[in-house]
Order: sequence, then structure tokens, then C-alpha cells
Amino acid sequence: MSTMLNELVARLQRNVVDGQPDRDEQPMRVPASAYADPDQYRREIDRIFLKSPVMVALVAELRDAGDYVAYDLAGRPLLIVRGDDGVIRAFLNICRHRGPKVTDAVCGSARRFTCPYHSWSYDTTGNLVGVPGRETFGEIDVTGLIELPSAVVAGAVFAVLDPDGDLDAGGWLAGMEDSLSELRLNEYYPYRVPTFIDSPNWKLAADGYLDGYHIGYLHRNTIGTRSITNRNTYDFFGPHVRIGFASKLTPDFDPAAADIDYKDYLSLVHYVFPNVSLSGGHGDTLMMSRLLPGPTPDRSTTLQFQFYREPIVDEMVDVAEQKRQLYEQVVADEDCATIFQVGEALPAMGDRHFIFGRNEPANQHLHRTIASMLGGSA
Ligand code: FES
Repeated sequence: MSTMLNELVARLQRNVVDGQPDRDEQPMRVPASAYADPDQYRREIDRIFLKSPVMVALVAELRDAGDYVAYDLAGRPLLIVRGDDGVIRAFLNICRHRGPKVTDAVCGSARRFTCPYHSWSYDTTGNLVGVPGRETFGEIDVTGLIELPSAVVAGAVFAVLDPDGDLDAGGWLAGMEDSLSELRLNEYYPYRVPTFIDSPNWKLAADGYLDGYHIGYLHRNTIGTRSITNRNTYDFFGPHVRIGFASKLTPDFDPAAADIDYKDYLSLVHYVFPNVSLSGGHGDTLMMSRLLPGPTPDRSTTLQFQFYREPIVDEMVDVAEQKRQLYEQVVADEDCATIFQVGEALPAMGDRHFIFGRNEPANQHLHRTIASMLGGSA
């Protein structure tokens, strides 16, 4: 029996009985311009995304040698791959000849990564192993792809997007490592069908993932039917947040019982700052959402993957695909359709502000964290 889950269930039950969620001390105002200002956006990219350790992959996505994921984050094309030597490394997905990506796929498995332009090729450890017409280049002064500082912690891969940056993933997690370890992330199997969803400013998307208040309203006909709205627990680990959602409990529920099946009584979201949401995970399924800031402040992309405790074969393929489509619909048609309206409202808001209540502490924490990292206060 997990002490952590047992305590969370008890706290959620108390919140249900008390009729309120964990709360912040005060409501908080955030200027509408914080979501649209190009200067702030540039500083968020430079000071947060390019300097902080980012959870760039799960070990579950890279189970075997040659397994890789590749996507663009904050203007950096990333390639994370498990090498033939078993080591997971993060690289810039940039050919050292003249710069194209060495793979266009989002995920897969490969023995070689070959640039489409002139066919320079790299092995799974990033080494340059093939150069057509090599004798015409003289002494080539690069040996392979540009590697990023990276480390595996609690079944997840963290990297700093600056090749010269420093990485202390354990310190960055500020105690969330134990909670993530309870999810046994490295025991999952990925459903390797990505979902890309056009989204507005990345903080508007993040606000949705951190908001336990909207579930029973915006999602009342879909995922909101299972949870009790606005009775959440919130736990903070440095910049990161764990949110507990109370499932609809039976009146005779006993949190001290030895045979609790936790996935029936609560669901969890681990938001790993700045841009990864892990939804579920203590049971049999996990949904990972990566928020990828776009080229301009008003755009981002949400990239989702589903994970299961068993390989996705046979009838599991249909199960996984149906769930993928459900979450695509929920995020695109409910969350993003709504927050795009917020994005469109920003010019009309002028220098006015939005309000986060005491019942929205994770959102308050996000905006305080960002303000602090940009050298200001919220
Ligand atoms: Fe990649 Fe020439 S640019 S091989």
C-alpha cells in the first residue's frame, strides 16, 4: 500500500467533506499582457526553456536501442535516442554538414539517422559514421551530432537545451522525484501515435492543465463526469505541481482499508515545469502532454502520447486509438476552443488583468514562478 496515495485519498476525502479544495492565501491578478507581450515571451524562451532542465522524454518511449523521439521545443530541434550501448542521449536534431534535421519523424526506431540533403549519417550514439565523398572534405573537424546535457531521473529524461548549460535534474525536481517514482514510469509502453493540437500561448495551455476548477464545467460531458470538481489537493515541489482529483466516492469509502484500488478513488496530474503534464500514471494508463511554445507568443502546440502497462498489440490497438481520439477531442474541442477565445480577447483587455482565485493555487504558482524566473514578481 502506498503511503503517499493513502494520504492523498484521505486529504481529498477531507476536501470533499469540507466542500473546498486546497487553497492559496489570496486571490491573484495576472496582467492580460503577460500572455501576449513579445518581449516577455522572448524572455520566457531564453531564461526558462533554454536554461532550465526540461523533461524531454520518458524512458518508456526509449525502451530498446535505436528507439527515439524527435520534436521542436523553443526553437531547438531535439532528438532523444537510446544508443546501441544502452545509454539515452539528447542531441540537437541538426546535421553537422549544413543543418537540416537528420530525422523528420516524431518517434520510431532506427540504426542510423541519415540527412536527406547529402546523406551524411549518424549512429544511435550520435557519431558521424557516413560521409559520401568524404575525401573532398579534408579533415572534418566534427565527430557527430551536438549533444545536450541530459540525465535520467525517476523514469524520465531531462535535458538542458543549451549544449553548454548545466544540468542538475534531481535538484530541479525539488522532491518531486519520489512522487514520480511511484508512477513506475519506466514500466510503461507507449502507443506510438502522436496527437498534435494547435494551441494558443503556452501559458494559456498550461493554465488549463493546472486548473482543477474547470473540470466539472468545461468537461461536464466528457472527462469531468468522473471527478468531483473544485475539491483538489495541490502539492508543490519547487516550480512543479502535483494535483489530486477526487473521484466520485461511495459513502462507505474507507481510506484506511487495505484493498483500496487507488485508480477508482483519485486521479493525479504531475505538472513538470515548464511544459510537461503527466495525467494519471498510478494506475494502468498515463497521458503525457508536452506544451511546445510556437514561433510567436500567440501560438503553441500540444503534443500528446498515451502509455499503457502492457504492449499495445492486438485488441489493445483499438482501445488505445479510441482513448487517443477522446483526449484529442477533449483538448481540441473543449480546452483549446475555449482558450483560443482568451487569446483573441487579449487585445481588447488592454492593461486590464485576469483573476486567479484562492482555489486556483497551481495557476498562481505557475505565474509566480515565471515572474520570479524573469526577475520580477507577480
Ligand atoms: Fe546534411 Fe549535407 S546538409 S548531409
